[in-house]
Amino acid sequence: MLGGNSDNVTSCFARDWAERLLSMKRTHHCNELRPEHLGQTVTLTGWVHSRRDLGGLIFVDIRDREGRTQTVFDPSNLPPALFEAASHLRSESVVEVSGTVRQRPAGTSNSKIGTGEVEVMASHIEVLNQSEVLPFPVDDPEVSSKVNEELRLQYRYLDLRRPEMARNLRLRSKVATATRVFLDEQGFLEVETPTLFKSTPEGAREFLVPSRVHPGQFYALPQSPQQFKQILMVAGVERYFQLARCYRDEDLRADRQPEFTQVDLEMSFIDREDLYALIEGLLKKVWKTALGMDIQTPFLRIPFYDALNRYGIDKPDTRFGMELTDFTEEFRASTFKVFSGTISNGGVIKAINAKGLAGATQGQIETMTDYAKSFGAKGLAFIKVEGGEWKSPIVKFFTEAEKAALKTKLAIEEGDLILFAADQWLNACEILGRIRLYCADVLKSQGKLVIPANQFNFLWVVEFPLLSFDKEQNRWYSSHHPFTAPVTEDIPLLATDPKKVRGQHYDIVVNGVELGGGSIRIHQPQVQKKIFEEVLQIPPEMVEARFGYMLEAFKYGAPPHGGIALGFDRLIAILCGTTSIRDVIAFPKTAKGTDLMTSSPAPAEPRQLRDLHIELRVAKKD
Ligand code: AMO
Ligand code: AMP
Repeated sequence: MLGGNSDNVTSCFARDWAERLLSMKRTHHCNELRPEHLGQTVTLTGWVHSRRDLGGLIFVDIRDREGRTQTVFDPSNLPPALFEAASHLRSESVVEVSGTVRQRPAGTSNSKIGTGEVEVMASHIEVLNQSEVLPFPVDDPEVSSKVNEELRLQYRYLDLRRPEMARNLRLRSKVATATRVFLDEQGFLEVETPTLFKSTPEGAREFLVPSRVHPGQFYALPQSPQQFKQILMVAGVERYFQLARCYRDEDLRADRQPEFTQVDLEMSFIDREDLYALIEGLLKKVWKTALGMDIQTPFLRIPFYDALNRYGIDKPDTRFGMELTDFTEEFRASTFKVFSGTISNGGVIKAINAKGLAGATQGQIETMTDYAKSFGAKGLAFIKVEGGEWKSPIVKFFTEAEKAALKTKLAIEEGDLILFAADQWLNACEILGRIRLYCADVLKSQGKLVIPANQFNFLWVVEFPLLSFDKEQNRWYSSHHPFTAPVTEDIPLLATDPKKVRGQHYDIVVNGVELGGGSIRIHQPQVQKKIFEEVLQIPPEMVEARFGYMLEAFKYGAPPHGGIALGFDRLIAILCGTTSIRDVIAFPKTAKGTDLMTSSPAPAEPRQLRDLHIELRVAKKD
């Protein structure tokens, strides 16, 4: 209530606002005016992008979501109060400007913006809201791209006004729509699943939500809708999808956030080929919509073993070579004991040729060696090919035949840097895989490796092992999740040689980024129970407590089914050409999991904790 004469006040207020709203109606957006509009009277609304005072005239670029238009304030054409208002405009103030469209004088057009041939000769300006001086500029890409990210996140609403960030949000929206349309056309139903859930077995730590009504009990935020989507198959939905919000309390990196979005889907009565074709079709449509590009399908498929053996990683970036080459046979009898000793212990010798890096200094080689050691390498033997010589502390051990083999298999020439790993197969692959990427980054920074921005190497990684062994706990665990079906012909090996069992799992990789993963699932309750209890050795009572409802559901006619989840943030980051998913999420968390704009997480009120039956025992920081 506004007091005794509230009606009167309210109606005056309403009238005032109605008039204002009427006057605020823009006639065009800021990327619309062209020479065909010359002579028209127009009204623009937006933010003051920049103001320049030149020779008695004031030029104000007005920006809205769509673009920018130059407006001109001429004191001879305006009441002094309006000219005065224009001369005090601060960047990012919100204005409404009316005037007449005119051609820019010869030589002053700006080909960089769509409205660059015209300008609006202002006859009226209203300052709808004056802005304070900004904590960082948003009008100059050169300056604003260098602004400290913490400041950007604290003032995210300003950061999002920057054209590149605005473009990222727009592209995200466009791709979400294209995805929905495509999946709708393919017969998928969009179904929302709960975000108050219980613990899932997907590996990451979970966020718990205390229950007020059930003292001492907790929901967990879902790591993914995995179990619900499988249950939806039992429910007969046949084709489900969702742009699903997922939560994982894990260590954050540029490509990981504690909450993120998946394009999550599941289908009944399909095999892996159906799934590959569907996702290839979806990505084809997404690339066309977002970038206007036609991508080639079907995508290459590479077995997990080959990915590791050739690239040292299960998400290979195949946009450049530098593949891992095996020299185990060549060095079996080597006098260099590091090599022959490793081989006699069942290990392998692998090498890469970093072309163009022979100039690496001793210090750079040491840095690289330390980097390799941080991943468990025992050393990083090298050969620099410089001035027609092989420079290396180990070359003296090599025979002519060994040297000839290196030269041929690695196509060695002047300027090359050869790097070796001698270790057990998996270690050797993973160490050189990291070094390969490291060298590629160095070569890129030196301009010796140039990868076109519009090159996208998609591939499916297939034939993952179903199980991995946890040495500490002395037991098998699922390489992905326990619902993945084994490859049918490998099922007998479950009892005899579990490490050889391949899963019907697939990952989709683009340019070295794991974009998504999924599998054909186990749909027979007795097989699923066996995997939980006999293979994964989860005690039956725990299986019952965690998955009992799922095993129960599967008893009533679960169809064969499978699916996949694509990391939506990663997808958009790739399309936007950024390596950080923070650049494509409106309000991301920092690497420490905090939101600097709202200051979260934050302490709870004692009353809230009491209601939730929670008592805190937080160790005091020194
Ligand atoms: P997975 O755990 O492989 O599979 O996740 C699928 C995809 O989600 C993305 N992703 C992330 N993106 C941002 N931040 C994170 N913290 C994060 N974690 C994962 C990745 C990843 O490839 N339920 C299964 C899918 C299935 O089997 O259908 C699942 O969630 O791009
Ligand atoms: P050392 O004989 O230990 O001095 O090693 C000679 C060279 O071999 C050094 O460049 C080491 O970095 C390298 N080296 C040692 N162990 C390994 C290994 N397991 N794999 C690759 N290089 C190694």
